[in-house]
Amino acid sequence: MSQLPPTIDHAAKPSTAAEAESNQTLDPKDWSDFRTQAHRMLDDMLGYIEDIRERPVWQPIPADMRAHFQSPAPRQGTDLAEVHAEFMSEVLPYAQGNVHPGFMGWVNGAGTPVGMVAEMLAAGLNANCGGRDHIPIEVERQVTRWVAELFGFPEDTSGLFVTGTSMANLIAVLIARDAALGFEVRSGGVAAAPKRLTAYTSTSVHSCVPKAMDIAGLGSDALRLVPTDGGCHIDLAALAAAIQRDREAGMTPFLVVGTAGTVNAGAIDDLSGLADLCQREKLWFHVDGAFGALAKLAPDLAPKVNGMERADSVAFDFHKWGQAPYDAGFILVRDSAAHKAAFVAPAAYLQRAERGLAAGSPWPCDFGPDLSRGFRALKVWFTLKVYGVEALGASISRSCALARYLQGRIAETPELELMAPVELNIVCFRYRTETSNKDGAEDSERSNRVNDEIVIRLQESGIVAPSTTTIRGRLAIRAAIVNHRTSRAEIDALVENTLALGRAL
Ligand SMILES: Cc1ncc(COP(=O)(O)O)c(C=O)c1O
Repeated sequence: MSQLPPTIDHAAKPSTAAEAESNQTLDPKDWSDFRTQAHRMLDDMLGYIEDIRERPVWQPIPADMRAHFQSPAPRQGTDLAEVHAEFMSEVLPYAQGNVHPGFMGWVNGAGTPVGMVAEMLAAGLNANCGGRDHIPIEVERQVTRWVAELFGFPEDTSGLFVTGTSMANLIAVLIARDAALGFEVRSGGVAAAPKRLTAYTSTSVHSCVPKAMDIAGLGSDALRLVPTDGGCHIDLAALAAAIQRDREAGMTPFLVVGTAGTVNAGAIDDLSGLADLCQREKLWFHVDGAFGALAKLAPDLAPKVNGMERADSVAFDFHKWGQAPYDAGFILVRDSAAHKAAFVAPAAYLQRAERGLAAGSPWPCDFGPDLSRGFRALKVWFTLKVYGVEALGASISRSCALARYLQGRIAETPELELMAPVELNIVCFRYRTETSNKDGAEDSERSNRVNDEIVIRLQESGIVAPSTTTIRGRLAIRAAIVNHRTSRAEIDALVENTLALGRAL
């Protein structure tokens, strides 16, 4: 077929009827006014980030403020400037606070101004990255190749942006399941499969992995939780024994999930040991590297994740240590054919073509559950290009140095106790309470209550915001240093305020 010349006459004047119709769109009636207001909104957000240290990390939401969000659906429109003012006074001050350097709870990235403006560009393009032939999909493919290169994977590795590591882990479990049972399980269902699959991970696994086993129809009980050593790393001998036991009982082991950076303590499993074992036992080797996988970008930390390059799949987030704005999860899969076979779903209305907009197959929708997908890749593409891998790696390295600094401060303070080894960027500790029961042992219930209260009061103070976890049955104050803005000042504030609150309680 010959190429047709463009036939659109761009100079043609719209008819009066067409003009009247264009007034009914949702576009601004006055673009100049809109532009002024839009610039104000951009300026306000840049100011918010620039001056973030002057704000509390987080503040409790007053009941009357919460009540503002109970109003019925607006039937009539409101001026953009008015809605923006409402955002500034009612939404912005009550955000989670992970932009603030004092935020140390859970595992949350801070984002960057670069990521923020890239999100704005992506929203302007409003690209649907489920499929079709357009450059936003090439951007995602380029980021996939960059990840493969940085992680030491082959060039033809497949990858996909998803919401977060929870979704990325689910995708990995589904591919591994289908590869083990045969891809016909997608039509026949797991119930009809002749094999009972079992998977293996450590007791330190993130809760989204058992959830993935549940969603995959395999059941969370089919995920065997192998004990860990004192440093929260999977016990390889216990793992091999569990696999052997299941084989003898007629089960079909199919998957091992290693963790690069456990959520509780930041421990990294022996990934090379796991790769050897999976190779020997012919099992799918998946790495949950939600934050820890990006340790690969920091030369001083990269050796800790040796063996990850031998995985069949890796799940991780750019929105944590990668500092891209939420959400930006990623799944990397060595066998792109298996990846596609687990998700491709032909449909008449999604037919592919050699040319035209329907070209460019395979499409991202062939590699995951989503058909409609936003342009998540753009904020990561901008982040990687503007900062470069070295600066991101240095920021990751710095947060581990801060964790070691906090570890040092705990060690020199008798009232504080370190609860788990510090391997990366997570520090679990507690304030020692003085009460003891009749055996002289610490009254753990009271101690748990005191430490829980310390964390709540720290959060309510707006100075620093750690979270809590439980280590061997004892509540710990948990500081995960992910934010590139965090400095020694916030670490010192955490220590000093914990001590002050502990003494007062
Ligand atoms: C080790 C680990 N796995 C999985 C997850 C879940 O990731 P997401 O919150 O991006 O779904 C987390 C979150 O912190 C994590 O630390």
